[in-house]
This record gives sequence, structure tokens and C-alpha cells, in this order.
Amino acid sequence: MIKVLAAGLAAGVLASSALAGETQLSYLAATCAACHGPAGGAIPGLADRPADKIAEALTAWRDGTRPGDIMPAVAAGLDDATIRALADHFAGEARP
Ligand code: HEC
Repeated sequence: MIKVLAAGLAAGVLASSALAGETQLSYLAATCAACHGPAGGAIPGLADRPADKIAEALTAWRDGTRPGDIMPAVAAGLDDATIRALADHFAGEARP
């Protein structure tokens, strides 16, 4: 069930990552937050994580060198600039 949800969300990420920019970034970041919400739970939140760690993880998932259930599909469509922008975005957020 969560895989079906992930596929839908990942498709949205894929479609939107073709465009760059501030509006696009906040849209993308909201997609991430749908799973990594501040409410916590099974999926870790992203706020206040070091940008380099976030970028490293996303790059490895995109390149297929890091295993995961969900994130490989999410990261598949992200280019380097978008990964960097997302990493900086989440690293800059205060922990809730
Ligand atoms: C459909 C739910 C979902 C969406 C959407 C999602 N993630 Fe994830 N994320 C996960 C899950 C589940 C994990 C645990 C690893 C796995 O199973 O793939 C994870 C792990 C991570 C981790 C590693 C956290 C850690 O410290 O272990 C990072 C970083 C991350 N996601 C970033 C993002 C970013 C950035 C986005 C938006 C582009 C995003 N995620 C969108 C579900 C999601």
C-alpha cells in the first residue's frame, strides 16, 4: 500500500523536477514533507539534518548505490542541482 502511494508521489516529483526555481522547490519540498512530516512516526523527519548527509543519501539512491524501499523511486528523477537545493532547504529548517 505504501509502495502504491510512493509510486504516485514519485511520479509527481519526476514531473516537477524538470522545472527549477523557488516555486518548484517549495512544491517539491512539500512532497517530501508528505512522508517526512514534522509529526514524526516511522519515517524520520528531515529538518535540521546536515545538508551534505541529505544530498549524499539522495544521490546514492538516485544512482542505485544505496538500498531503500521508497527513496530510490523518489530520488530517481532528481538532478544534482535539485538535490542540492532540497538538501539546503531541509538543513535550514528548524527542528520542530
Ligand atoms: C512516499 C514517502 C516518501 C517521500 C515522498 C519521500 N520520502 Fe524520504 N524516506 C522515506 C522512507 C520510507 C525512508 C527510509 C528509507 C527507505 O525505505 O527508502 C526515507 C528516507 C529519507 C532520508 C534518509 C533519512 C535518514 O536519516 O535515514 C532522506 C535524507 C530523505 N528520505 C529525503 C527525502 C526528500 C528530500 C524527499 C523529497 C524529494 C523525500 N525524502 C520524499 C519516504 C519518503
